[in-house]
Amino acid sequence: MRPWTHPVGEPVIVAKAKGCVVTDIHGKEFLDLTAGYFVNNAGHCHPKIIAAATRQLGEVLQVSGKHGTVAAIKLAKRLIQLGPKSLNKAFFSTGGSESNEFALKLARQYTKKTDVAYLENGYHGLSLGSLEVTASEKYRESAGKPLGKDNYAVPAAYCYRCKWGPAATCKVECLDGLDAQFEARPQTAAVIAEVVQAVGGLAPPQKWWDRMDRTRKARGILLIADEVQTGLGRTGKMFAVEHYGLEPEIMTGGKGLSGGVGSLAVTTASDALVKNFFGGTTPTSGGNAVSSAAGLAMIETLLEEKLIENAAKMGRYFTEAAWALQDPWIGDVRFTGLLGGIELVSDRANKTILGKAEVARIKDHLHAQGMLITISGYHGNCLRLQPPLSVSAAQIDQFVAALRKALVAIRAGT
Ligand SMILES: Cc1ncc(COP(=O)(O)O)c(C=O)c1O
Repeated sequence: MRPWTHPVGEPVIVAKAKGCVVTDIHGKEFLDLTAGYFVNNAGHCHPKIIAAATRQLGEVLQVSGKHGTVAAIKLAKRLIQLGPKSLNKAFFSTGGSESNEFALKLARQYTKKTDVAYLENGYHGLSLGSLEVTASEKYRESAGKPLGKDNYAVPAAYCYRCKWGPAATCKVECLDGLDAQFEARPQTAAVIAEVVQAVGGLAPPQKWWDRMDRTRKARGILLIADEVQTGLGRTGKMFAVEHYGLEPEIMTGGKGLSGGVGSLAVTTASDALVKNFFGGTTPTSGGNAVSSAAGLAMIETLLEEKLIENAAKMGRYFTEAAWALQDPWIGDVRFTGLLGGIELVSDRANKTILGKAEVARIKDHLHAQGMLITISGYHGNCLRLQPPLSVSAAQIDQFVAALRKALVAIRAGT
């Protein structure tokens, strides 16, 4: 069974993967610009990750959540060491959605309030609880019932399509009504936000985050930073909060945290929040020892091989290379490290959204050329380009050459 109702094209069945390249069952090679759904940040099947997981396989695999393993504790300590100072406790679960649901419970129990504000365009998972704070109607409909009224959307920064004017004159007008929204919802426990929104790669300017952070703090509203996709080097910093100097009260992570071995996610918070937590979350497979050992090896690999610096550098390289195409369908190029992609338009001056059919054909053309990508964005017109952080300039050149061909061919109707 495939989980999507909208067409996503023929699946690629992967038989082997190494570094930034995956090989399907027919022997066709693809440059993987999805990093296995933004998981394999150090590249597929990195030998250090395989070695750590293999060592752990001979020691212990899984214990009760009431106890623990050395592997999970080592990973927890490393995450706390590397993360924002405000956070000193880590709790493991099995997926990003679950880590966000735990974050919501923590915030509600601590503040004794019920409501959570989420950003327009925000994505926090598709399980029923995380869907409550995921913005897109396309996803919310999948609940099959009206979602609760405890949570509400607040404005996000979509600067390319800003209705108030160019970036140079920005006064963060999109947040003018934020305090009034909070005032009208005194039961607000927290704001949950991706620091850089992954759907479309929307990175707010510093002043947007400054204002959001000031406004929510003034009302004692907690910040839950969802780093499921942005964390572990993806944006060119270990965590995206570092770009803005944010100190969230709760932070979540997942995806690459397992090093690609099984599934692992985490919710981190301060002692103060955890002290009064009265329970309600015991994921059976949370903190699996093999996933934890592999995740720790991935983090050390990112640091040892300077892959986070490479992500920052390759993000800039990708941006320059994409703009250099001077293609009339490229409306915006947005990379924060290696998170983001390209927004396609049929008319640059008017920023007219390129039709879904053309976008799908471009994706298929790229697949045929051995480029594995996904489509994203609020309007479904962004090419999401998030390879492993080890990607090289030569591989980006290969992709950009393929993109040039795809854009020319689809525009010509061939
Ligand atoms: C920002 C963000 N939060 C939460 C999730 C949900 O994670 P999972 O699919 O592991 O439940 C995702 C997954 O794409 C995500 O990108």
